[in-house]
Amino acid sequence: MQEMSRRNAKFTESIIRRMTRIAIANDAINLAQGFPDFDPPKAITDRLKEVADIGPHQYPITMGAPNFRQALARKCGRFMGLNLDPEKEIVVTIGSTEAMVDTIFALTNPGDKIVLFSPFFENYHAQAIMADCEPIYVPLVPPALKFDPEVLEDAFRQHPKMILICNPANPSGRVFTMEEMTLIADLCKKYDVYAVMDEVYEHIIFDGRKHIYMASLPGMWERTVSISSLSKTYSITGWRLGYAIAPEPIMERIKQYHDFNTVGSASPLMEAAVVGLDMPDSYYEEFTAHYEHMKQIFTTGLRDIGIPFSEPEGTYFCLANIAPFMKPGQTDLEFCEEMTAKVRVSAVPGSSFFAEPVKDIIRLHFAKKDETLYEALNRLSDIKAKMLG
Ligand SMILES: Cc1ncc(COP(=O)(O)O)c(C=O)c1O
Repeated sequence: MQEMSRRNAKFTESIIRRMTRIAIANDAINLAQGFPDFDPPKAITDRLKEVADIGPHQYPITMGAPNFRQALARKCGRFMGLNLDPEKEIVVTIGSTEAMVDTIFALTNPGDKIVLFSPFFENYHAQAIMADCEPIYVPLVPPALKFDPEVLEDAFRQHPKMILICNPANPSGRVFTMEEMTLIADLCKKYDVYAVMDEVYEHIIFDGRKHIYMASLPGMWERTVSISSLSKTYSITGWRLGYAIAPEPIMERIKQYHDFNTVGSASPLMEAAVVGLDMPDSYYEEFTAHYEHMKQIFTTGLRDIGIPFSEPEGTYFCLANIAPFMKPGQTDLEFCEEMTAKVRVSAVPGSSFFAEPVKDIIRLHFAKKDETLYEALNRLSDIKAKMLG
């Protein structure tokens, strides 16, 4: 038999999805893979019932149903402060995951370099490798998880094709400030680098912070791809509806990868989700307030138990320090597997997010009903005895 692709050797099975499997096997509360256990907005699910009877049920136009793209242009244009052309500047994809892969393929050639902040969302590493690109990691330095502008500029001096930024950032919980965003934008312009933004957590942002859209900063529209999805904002991670927004010359390329990879997103789901995109500002205000409430319950509980963590500025993730609960020589993956079995709460080992040799950090998420969070905190309350006893 001939040798299969060598690319796979450079990345493993997703640790996040693996932890989900282990959580299910142990009947544990899954605080590893980030998805809510509460319902999507009723207006969307009611509409889905109607759509089941009236359709559409056949192939969509490859770049996404026109009414869905128009609704995206209205909603995203409003928040980004841009006038978006739904025909030329938007493509609907199978989750933001597909949008990211299409974008990396559209912008890079084999051997190109991609700047990533570390810790990074684990998909990016695998997606870069699939496109035969080479990541350059720039650390977000604890405890504030900020980058050193000099180190970032050193990365730009290595002639990368693009910088891929998650903002608000999974897993660090950082929300980049205007000062940081301007600094990155200036480097993109100075070194002629594309900015690819993963903004799936754009509406999960705490303490009155404001999400800054890179595409809206002066001189950045031409070189920015803005990727987001309905997964998190409307609590429909299973619907797999994502999108990319980019200027026409870039979008033309992205659409080609999208077309031949997937043909298009699910027609009935796009139709049903239009009501979500058309919801007023009050929906997003309540949505953000709900996440602020969940964060409050969860972080107060961690503090009371004595689990050290870094306070998230946005997203529904929290990086916790497990050094006080680890056995000598134990890896973070072993810790997470044992915690899933003994504490019956699952988390993701930090080593799957950091390029640096981080050994004692785990990621927990708090997109859960109050009762799920209280039960998880209850189980975590004697973590020391369960893990070291
Ligand atoms: C930072 C980030 N980007 C993308 C995704 C994938 O989102 P989607 O459901 O839109 O594919 C996730 C999901 O956890 C995520 O955390």
